Amino acid sequence: MEVIIQPSPVAAAKVAARIIEDLIRRKPSAVLGLATGGTPLGLYQELIRLHREKGLDFSGITTFNLDEYVGISPEHPASYHRFMQENLFDHVNILPGNIHIPDGNTKDVPRFCAGYEEQILKAGGIDLQVLGIGHDGHVGFNESTSSLVSRTRIKTLTEQTIAANQRFFSEGETVPHHVITMGVGTIMEARTCLMLAFGEGKGQAVADMAEGPVTAMCPATALQMHRQTILIVDTPAASRLKRTAYYNHVYLNKPDFQKVSAFPVV
Ligand code: PGA
Repeated sequence: MEVIIQPSPVAAAKVAARIIEDLIRRKPSAVLGLATGGTPLGLYQELIRLHREKGLDFSGITTFNLDEYVGISPEHPASYHRFMQENLFDHVNILPGNIHIPDGNTKDVPRFCAGYEEQILKAGGIDLQVLGIGHDGHVGFNESTSSLVSRTRIKTLTEQTIAANQRFFSEGETVPHHVITMGVGTIMEARTCLMLAFGEGKGQAVADMAEGPVTAMCPATALQMHRQTILIVDTPAASRLKRTAYYNHVYLNKPDFQKVSAFPVV
């Protein structure tokens, strides 16, 4: 796993956006896996800026989102459909038909989930998956003790995740307890995983993910077994890492081409 430590979330978002820009310019039909939450907002703002100011073209891009709540409509202000429209899709030239987000209102969850996996395969697999991490080390909505080879399926949220996401819902409104999420195994098949984490509150999860033992108690640790994971954090989120000096040394001494084009395009 490559660990890149940046002075601020804005600086980290710029590094992440450059990696995605490079992928899109080299592979205009790239398949992106996308995430919601507070973490990727700066990245999406930077991608929108690159679209507006540098002509970054999303017209050939296909996207698959990690997850969605079960039982709320796509129009609900806290739905991940709405989040993606408002924070990225409305501002770039992506074709609506190329956007995929789990359907939290499906009448047949297992069938929908199997179909979602098939759609990813049919699109040629995910080139780059954007990820955030939960305070407990969840990825997507794969909570602690999730199978590390799991596929897209329904999950029940922990009380901690429900509490953490309450901020996106109106006061007094109940956060759904169920979600559809890509599995850890689904995420592991992305050619590149790009994980972002900001703030001291994420420090322990980041340290566990990069330096702890691989365990289903912290599903993000499965990424230690992934061939190309790039973890980009700000300084507070790096505060519990043991090998920061080494990570900085590696990043500063990398050949320039590797800083952006860290992975082959297939
Ligand atoms: P956040 O969520 O980006 O809102 O912190 C991350 C996560 O729970 O995966």
